[in-house]
Order: sequence, then structure tokens, then C-alpha cells
Amino acid sequence: MVISMPRGTQDILPEESRKWQYIEEKLRKISSDFCYEEIRTPMFESTELFSRGVGDTTDIVQKEMYTFMDKSDRSLTLRPEGTAGTVRSYIENKLFAQTIQPQKLYYVGPMFRYERKQKGRYRQFVQYGVEVIGDESPKIDAEVISLAYNIYKIFGIENIKVSINSLGNPEERRAYNEALIKHFEPRIHEFDEDCNNRLYKNPMRILDCKVDANHELVKTAPRLLEYLGEESKAYFAEVLRHLDALGVKYEIDHNLVRGLDYYTHTAFEIMIDNPEVELKTLCGGGRYNGLVKLLDGPEDKKGIGFALSIERLLLALESENITLPIDDTIDLFVVSMGEKAGDAAVKLTNDLRLAGYKAQNDYFDKKMKAQMKIADRYKAKLSIIIGESELENDEYVVKDMESFNQETVKRENIIKYLEEKLRGEK
Ligand code: HAM
Repeated sequence: MVISMPRGTQDILPEESRKWQYIEEKLRKISSDFCYEEIRTPMFESTELFSRGVGDTTDIVQKEMYTFMDKSDRSLTLRPEGTAGTVRSYIENKLFAQTIQPQKLYYVGPMFRYERKQKGRYRQFVQYGVEVIGDESPKIDAEVISLAYNIYKIFGIENIKVSINSLGNPEERRAYNEALIKHFEPRIHEFDEDCNNRLYKNPMRILDCKVDANHELVKTAPRLLEYLGEESKAYFAEVLRHLDALGVKYEIDHNLVRGLDYYTHTAFEIMIDNPEVELKTLCGGGRYNGLVKLLDGPEDKKGIGFALSIERLLLALESENITLPIDDTIDLFVVSMGEKAGDAAVKLTNDLRLAGYKAQNDYFDKKMKAQMKIADRYKAKLSIIIGESELENDEYVVKDMESFNQETVKRENIIKYLEEKLRGEK
């Protein structure tokens, strides 16, 4: 029986992986322009990191982790997200002692969640994320949100919406949670099982309920904003003021609570604004002022970040009918006729590749016409033809595959000739 890939995973085949490379390159470029540096952390961590960091009551920890015991009886978990591992690394490697603070980090890599399979929801997916750890300022919050927002813009995705909220500090949230329990308790039986389970453990998550989102009680629930103190309100107002100045369009969403426990103050999501797309959330993030301390790092080190998955970015590109400008051509195909010319073609192709040209030759001594066909399939810009007479005269015929013009070039001049011919594109 043919073995198939695990449910919720996907093979990214060459045609698709070109898009991934293009996207990853752009993400690395914009990260570097914003002065973020890459961090690479392990794909598995101690299970405790996530149960403590992401939070015991979250869906991720309760239902979605790939947890296993290793041969030494340690409980390990494939990372479901990147923030906890990045913060662990920040603490373990004492990045808080670096002279530049805050540390501005980004990562690109696979994450694992045992979720129900759905378009845009995978069990292995690739997150690009950033984390700014070490300090707090509304300017940082605005920078991070602007970075996320502009990522979609640089790919030409215009139909996006930033939803933003402030989750306040833990004391403010405690008071708010009590108010929510009072509000929902008498009629919690009208909600689904998940919400019932959330009532005492994490009542804010009822506002995020997928099944009963339109329930009257969700709409009339008290608003967190009313429970924020002056300081939190002023901080949020400053973040919004900077976002206005940076030209980031946003909407305040009082029900935006996010599904991970570590958030404080600013929380945001970016959605695709297209009624035809079912799974709208492209990106999510927020501030986590208590996480470094919770993971036994220095108390005063605060953080903020976001993550997006490349899978959903690709879906957004698709739904917006955006084609990425991917170059799938090669520079040259070396066509040869006869055994000796075939050997010369192998050598020439190798030389061209080492000179930085994307070059391919025929392996099977095919007829000239068949080789030309292969050159077309490769989308070669030029073909170099070597036959017996070319070998004798130490020259090549170079054919432009679009205009069909051809020229004879002396062997010693070939690299110079190609440089001129293809220079504009290098
Ligand atoms: P999250 O909201 O759980 O946040 O995930 C962030 C993004 O990852 C989502 O908006 C979505 O694009 C993508 N994503 C999540 N699950 C899946 C899935 N099963 N398949 C495909 N894409 C998925 C976090 O992970 C936080 N660590 C973000 C953060 C960073 N907060 C602060 N810093």
C-alpha cells in the first residue's frame, strides 16, 4: 500500500516551493529593513514551557499539542507557536544583558498543532513571527503592527483589516473576568460545551466563541475598555496615535481577546476583508509583559510580537488573484549533436554554472529537435548549440529562444558575450 502523508500536512512541490522561497526572501528583507535579526530555536521544547507560557486553559495546550515522552522519560512537545521558545531562549542565553535593548528578533519555521483540518488550517504550518523583547513603548507596539500590516501591502494584498484591542494589565483583567462570569453565568447553558468549560477558567474566551458568536449575551457583554485604568487607556491611545501617523488603518474590536494566555495591553489581528474567504485571520499578535517573568526571567523585561502563517498568506494571495512575479526561466540550455559535442556540452554547462548562470544540458544524446523542446520546457532564455563544426572551429552558436536570432561566438568570448546578453537580468 502506498504510504500517504499525515493528515493536516502537505508536500510543497517545486512549483509551489518557488512561491515559498519568494515569500520567505521578501519576509527576510523587510525584517532586516526594520532591523530585526533571525533567531532559530528548537522545533521541540519541554512540554512545561508551553503549559506555563501559552497557558493551561488554552485550546493549544488542552487539545492541540503533539506531546511525547523521549527515551529518557522527558515530556517534550513539538512547538505549537514561536513566542514561548523565543522568550525561553532570550532568558536562557541572557539576551537581556545585550547592549542593544529591546532585542528585535524574527523567525520562520514549522509549528505543529493537532487541529481539525480545514482550508488554511494545518497540523504542520510555517509561521513567520517577530518578537521585540526587553522594553515597552507605544512606539514599539506601533512599529510591530505596522510591520505586520505592511507585509501584506508589499505582496499587493490591499483588502485587509487590522483589529485591535487593549487587554489591560492582569488586575484590570481580573475585575473584568469577574464581571464576565456574572454576565454569562445565569445563561451559560445556552452556550456550547467549550464555552461552558471556559466560564470560570477563562471567561474572556467566551467572547471569542466560534459557535455562539452571535448570541445576544456576547453582544451585550461588558467591555474590557470600561475596566481599564487611566494608565492602560493612555498607553492604548498612544499606540493608536502612532498607528495613525504611520498610516495603518485599524478598527477597535472590543471582543478581540486572542487565544493565548500571555497577552497584556495591546492585542491585534489582521484579517482578510473578503466575504468569500472563510478563514479570515491571517496574522495575530500582541504584548506580553508578564511572560519573561513567568518563565523565570528578569521581571522588568516586556515583550510584544506577532506571527502569521505562510499558508494563509498564500491563500490570501489566491483569493485576491495576485500572481507573484516568480522567475521560472533558466539562462541557458546547451544543445549538442554527436558524442564529442555531448562531452563538450557537459563541460561547458558546468563552467557556465560555476560562472553563475542557470544552465542545463541534455543527458541522453537526443536529436536536436528534441533537445530544443526540452530547452523550451526549461524556459531557457538562450540555447547554446555545439555540433562538430563548432567544435572544430572553437565556437558556439547562441540562439535567442524568443526571437530565434542566432549568433556565432568564439569559445574564449562566450562568458563576455553572455554577460552582455543577460546582464540586464542579473
Ligand atoms: P496565533 O494566533 O495562535 O498566535 O497564530 C498566529 C497565526 O498563525 C494565525 O493568525 C495564523 O495565520 C497562523 N496559524 C495558526 N494556526 C494555524 C494552522 N493550524 N494552520 C495554518 N496557520 C495557522 C501565535 O502563534 C502567537 N505566538 C503570535 C504572537 C507572537 N504573539 C506574540 N508574538
